[in-house]
Amino acid sequence: MFVSDCISVNEKGHLTVGGCDTVEISKEFGTPAYVYDENEIRKNIREFRNSIDENYGGRGMVHYASKAFSCKEIYRICASEGIGVDVVSGGELYTALSVDFSAEKIAFHGNNKNYAELEYAVESNVGRIIVDNITELETLNAIAAKHGKTVGIMFRIKPGIDAHTHDFVKTGQIDSKFGFALETGEAMEAVKTALGMSNIKLCGLHCHIGSQIFDIDPFELAAKVMLELFADVKSQTGVELEELNLGGGFGIRYLESDNPKPFGAYMKTVSKTVHEYCEKLGLAVPFIHIEPGRSIVGAAGITLYTVGAVKEIPDIRTYVSIDGGMADNPRYALYKSDYQAVCANKANEERTEIVTIAGKCCESGDLIQENTKIQKVQPGDILAVLSTGAYNYSMASNYNRIPKPPVVMIKDGEARIVVRRETYEDVAVCDI
Ligand code: LLP
Repeated sequence: MFVSDCISVNEKGHLTVGGCDTVEISKEFGTPAYVYDENEIRKNIREFRNSIDENYGGRGMVHYASKAFSCKEIYRICASEGIGVDVVSGGELYTALSVDFSAEKIAFHGNNKNYAELEYAVESNVGRIIVDNITELETLNAIAAKHGKTVGIMFRIKPGIDAHTHDFVKTGQIDSKFGFALETGEAMEAVKTALGMSNIKLCGLHCHIGSQIFDIDPFELAAKVMLELFADVKSQTGVELEELNLGGGFGIRYLESDNPKPFGAYMKTVSKTVHEYCEKLGLAVPFIHIEPGRSIVGAAGITLYTVGAVKEIPDIRTYVSIDGGMADNPRYALYKSDYQAVCANKANEERTEIVTIAGKCCESGDLIQENTKIQKVQPGDILAVLSTGAYNYSMASNYNRIPKPPVVMIKDGEARIVVRRETYEDVAVCDI
């Protein structure tokens, strides 16, 4: 009935998350509010960690892609589960380091890291820097030399697989701002350059083929393409690279009709391909990294709102206005993303109404969902939007100077604040 395992309905007919009554949560912490089930996050982490351990004989590592949801507490949770993280900016790196996240377990991404960010990463002894382009490689080598260090890097490669189309395609030339092209020889050139640099250690290669992918085939294809490059590097330079990072992108459930595969199924199938292909190409199986983001936090989070005005426009549509919107969840405005919405205080009633959920920003495109089925609601009802745990808080803005909602974390039936609600002073804090 619900798109997420951690959601249920209690005897009062109220929606629960992680066993807590969401109506009570909304009273205690106010709305809008992001609410996460910590046990669900940990369960997802363990599923990835265990399956990578099983399938690669302990020679693999999960890096949570923290762009999906970045705050101090999530880095603490990842640290306590023994996994690494991927960061994509000085800000994410700072947040991770501020809770003493082990620098060696951090992979630093980004297609245009600036000098200060690269130097921050080198000074902090970040484990791997995923280098996107030659300019960055040269800058990084110079920074590493300045600090008398050797920096472990991987190259981001465009494997030429577009997994976003309905039937994924392998194109010779993929138009992407990320990484080195394979087909032009740019990637091989970069490998040779890096191997000749004194302050760079090229550990391996990285690819990431997209996000919210349900099929396993494109992941297998990406692994094959990357291993072929490993074999080419070996034959042209004599160097056998040691690490392969296969990125993230595993799909989750937003709608009841979505049917993602269990994470373990991706691991098993891709690992089989990796082992077979290495054998075929005469390579040792490299150390494997993966970078799931959405699949760790997405379905573990929901957003609670209070319903305000309900406007019925006869023969056109009914707008249900909520006290949040595109400022806390820009994904419908940006991508027309699907979500399941439920009236939290009427969760056991049938969903009979087709409505448009509208936010409070001064912008007609500020919608959370159009033509979605929910219970009949009235002002003051609590509306829950499910599976908002990824790319909602992390993509939130202060548009219209709306303070960002708090993040409430639930563990074993206890709710605690891990990010407090912003105040009006917070919103103006940098203004001179
Ligand atoms: N690794 C790299 C290099 C990435 O670029 C990404 C996501 C990930 C891992 C994690 O992918 P995931 O497992 O979360 O799918 N804002 C968009 C999603 C952008 C994803 C960007 N890169 C959204 O809201 O759908």
